[in-house]
Amino acid sequence: MWGKPSFCYEVLDSTQEEAKRLYKERKLVDGALIWADAQMHGRGRRGRKWFSPKGAGLWFTVAFKPSLPSDKLQLVNIASGVAICNFLLRKGLKAVLKWPNDVLVRMKKICGILTEGIFNGKDLEFCLLGVGVNLKPSEDFPLELRKEITSFQEEAGYCPSKGDMLSEILQDLYLKNRVLQENPGEVLSEYKKLCGTLGKKVFFEKGGEIFEGIARDVDEMGRLVVETVDSLEVLSSEMLIKVGE
Ligand code: BTN
Repeated sequence: MWGKPSFCYEVLDSTQEEAKRLYKERKLVDGALIWADAQMHGRGRRGRKWFSPKGAGLWFTVAFKPSLPSDKLQLVNIASGVAICNFLLRKGLKAVLKWPNDVLVRMKKICGILTEGIFNGKDLEFCLLGVGVNLKPSEDFPLELRKEITSFQEEAGYCPSKGDMLSEILQDLYLKNRVLQENPGEVLSEYKKLCGTLGKKVFFEKGGEIFEGIARDVDEMGRLVVETVDSLEVLSSEMLIKVGE
């Protein structure tokens, strides 16, 4: 299981950064959890800031040693998105996935996932699975962001204890990532059923230019297959700019 040892903090810059520091100090072990009540410099995909006000969410990183080739790291995102989406569905929330791994409820973001690798040369030493789940509304989120996000409490009408929720989510993440190692096809087909991006118009960047197309599929590496007017394009997560109608 994941979560032992647990490194818990009131405030951190980012749980991802703390995991990297622990690695350098040789304190990081398989399954370690790094958790903070607030992050001053929480990070999202594409270098974006991830607002992590005190007490407003679950902000954590799990470090583990995946038995996956490093070019398949994106599949950890896919499996983890499925685990969290299923968790929220089980709690009665109408959660869907937005490729690659945002979890939305009523088109608003409730959870984001950031997967990074720690490499020793070419060898993938650790996967750092960073998860942010919004639990409560907070005035410390910027005003314009508040229109685009939601929280567990706003959707469910209650907020479970953080400890209970964290241990349930950790168990789900662990189990889904185990299924991924044994049967990636099963996880991918589950992902496609939960993914609201398929069939939608998407905008993406390639070679400094912006293109649009319709999202048609997710391939065996977890990349988005997009049909444009004249080609089929395969997108890595950094290429997606926006999902339209
Ligand atoms: C995204 O949607 O862009 C990904 C957001 C990931 C946020 C989490 S919060 C815990 C961990 N620490 C970080 O700095 N980021 C991730």
